Amino acid sequence: MATATEPRRKVGRTLQTRLLIDGQWRDSLSGKTFETVNPATEETIAFVAEGDSADIDLAVKAARKAFDTGPWRKMDARDRGRLLNALADLIESQIDELAELETLDNGKPIRESRNADLPLVIDCFRYYAGWADKIHGQTIPIRGRHFCYTRREPVGVAGQIIPWNFPLLMAAWKWGPALAAGCTVILKPAEQTPLSALRLGELAMEAGFPAGVINIVPGFGETAGASLVAHKGVDKIAFTGETRTGQVIMKSAADTLKRVTLELGGKSPNIVFADADLDAAVEGAILGLYLNQGQCCCAGSRLFVQEQVHDQVVERLAARAQERKLGDPFDPETEQGPQVDKAQFDKILSYIDKGKAQGARCVSGGERFGGRGYFVKPTVFSEVKDQMAIATDEIFGPVMQVLRFREMDEVITRANTTDYGLAAAVWTRDIKKAHAIAESVRAGTIWVNCYDVFDAAAPFGGFKTSGLGRELGEKALDNYTELKTVTIALD
Ligand code: NAI
Ligand code: MG
Repeated sequence: MATATEPRRKVGRTLQTRLLIDGQWRDSLSGKTFETVNPATEETIAFVAEGDSADIDLAVKAARKAFDTGPWRKMDARDRGRLLNALADLIESQIDELAELETLDNGKPIRESRNADLPLVIDCFRYYAGWADKIHGQTIPIRGRHFCYTRREPVGVAGQIIPWNFPLLMAAWKWGPALAAGCTVILKPAEQTPLSALRLGELAMEAGFPAGVINIVPGFGETAGASLVAHKGVDKIAFTGETRTGQVIMKSAADTLKRVTLELGGKSPNIVFADADLDAAVEGAILGLYLNQGQCCCAGSRLFVQEQVHDQVVERLAARAQERKLGDPFDPETEQGPQVDKAQFDKILSYIDKGKAQGARCVSGGERFGGRGYFVKPTVFSEVKDQMAIATDEIFGPVMQVLRFREMDEVITRANTTDYGLAAAVWTRDIKKAHAIAESVRAGTIWVNCYDVFDAAAPFGGFKTSGLGRELGEKALDNYTELKTVTIALD
């Protein structure tokens, strides 16, 4: 494994560090700021305005005004689509700089931010730009002499709270359908990674979104986030993050009966049958777990391997994990950067300790990498038992659990023995086995002979405690629309 090189500080432009409210960049009312850190170096990048309930209140008033009386409501749907496309074009014109900003603040390798995150962001905005003028109701043949039709109207002001693992992409998943539907938004980025969302806000202003349609209030979850959820002027909350936070949000949103969609945690099973193309399965397992330093809600963190091929798969996984190139995330060769912050780094190392203490066999990694930055070596545990903490809990780091199985019914039962249900994958050459898994594993996404294939058009979301509702695709438009039934007497 390579040693960590000096992470280069990129991004020349002056960083935007203020709140975006009603089309204005402003300091927080309290004047407070918080620091955002480069996780590769542990150095402060910038101090960012810290919004709290007073700033949220201002942002909600601006979003409310923009929704209730602003030009946004009267704008042709097609022109909303044009604005979304203009934003996509601006992002594309700044793609390198945005990728560098994402890498600086989050630590993800530049090859991923530049070649995965940013293209998906652009695609998401273009996809929803196309929907803006295609959101419409039906005419319904009810009894009697009546003309009955439905309208799909924007739900109103949307509060959107996002995590740090894909800062720009999560903003795109939230803004795309909301803005296409005609909502106004208040985005609360994660406190670990506020910078790219603020730059996105600058581009949105440049694209020409009217004042108050897009507001951004960085700050902490318990203050800015919680007051957004509780605010009476907000009609809908969309959240991505930890399951426990989702539960707190849903309870709080009940007081005002807000519409709520939640994208939460996972412990996704990735199932390798003995008849699979093992080269592809091993690569798929590596991608499915180590992508983004293992900080993916859909990470394939429970790898079930059929016993005939178990030992050789473990051997190959360990070799592949050890080959991965860690280090400066700005080096185009780097495959794995640091974890996002010290809290995640500590959490992951504590799970590695638990895995060792509970008797799993660590065949790769199992410790930090280097002496500076929040790097964790790609870790593989074999001989994992279903009840071990590393097999039940979301670790959200580069720690793979390999579990041995014998046959189909057994692996289906074990795959489903979890409160989560976000994603699953199966590797096999037998179409019947693929279908059996696709129909019996209770998860919102099933990948067959692939992993982490994302597309703006394909719905994504969780069964069970992995979430509520679906993002992406046509389905996400339902999250941001209310259905109105109009009945007109014809006699
Ligand atoms: P978190 O769920 O606490 O934070 C995500 C977002 O929610 C952030 O913007 C945060 O400021 C906000 N937030 C936190 N508490 C809130 C509250 N009471 N009301 C409103 N907003 C609130 O996740 P955190 O603490 O960053 O990470 C902890 C664990 O959560 C991770 O180790 C991982 O297991 C999981 N996680 C899962 C993600 C996913 O994509 N499913 C993303 C991030 C974290
Ligand atoms: Mg938290």
